[in-house]
Amino acid sequence: MGKKAYWTKRVAQGKEMVYKNSIEGLRGMPAKGGMVSLSDEEVKAAVDYMVGRSGGWGK
Ligand code: HEM
Repeated sequence: MGKKAYWTKRVAQGKEMVYKNSIEGLRGMPAKGGMVSLSDEEVKAAVDYMVGRSGGWGK
């Protein structure tokens, strides 16, 4: 969190892709951060929190 340059590139993929990668996993990112008991909505809320403190979604 807080590294705007890092997040700008991720946010540029679009919100739905960032959500999808967080829910399904991506390379070193485990699906749902490894906590598979989370609902998709809970993961999306966590992503919104992280992005919100790292420059935001931009639009
Ligand atoms: C619920 C907890 C977590 C949330 C909400 C979360 C969210 C995210 C998001 C939004 C991204 C960017 C995805 C994209 O570029 O589209 C990401 C990437 C990543 N996360 Fe997590 N994460 C969580 C937990 C974890 C944990 C526990 C680990 C390590 C064990 C981890 C490792 C990574 C790595 C390595 C990436 C970069 C993947 C790549 O682009 O190669 N994350 N995460």
